[in-house]
Amino acid sequence: MAHWVKVAAASAVKEGAPVAVSVEDWEIALWRVGNQWFATDDLCSHAEASLVEGEQQGYRIICPRHGGQFDMRTGAALRFPAATPIATFRVKVEGDDLWIELPD
Ligand code: FES
Repeated sequence: MAHWVKVAAASAVKEGAPVAVSVEDWEIALWRVGNQWFATDDLCSHAEASLVEGEQQGYRIICPRHGGQFDMRTGAALRFPAATPIATFRVKVEGDDLWIELPD
């Protein structure tokens, strides 16, 4: 099971300026590419780093600490030293409300 949580105003998440939110036990990064929004774990899977402090190139997230890279659509690790995927979450937008689906 899972449940939906309203986490931000969609308009507040700009492409290239991701937003970190704390929701329940998660630190979530919210991303935008055009009129698509994505949600991933904000914590890099390699070591301690907040991914929103890194760089965004399209769908690609570049970790600020060692340059590991991830695909925000799937969480897949794309570049060493990141080797383990990060969690991703389903997203929906209703009006200007951005919702993500969290596991129970
Ligand atoms: S902490 Fe992100 S690549 Fe090392």
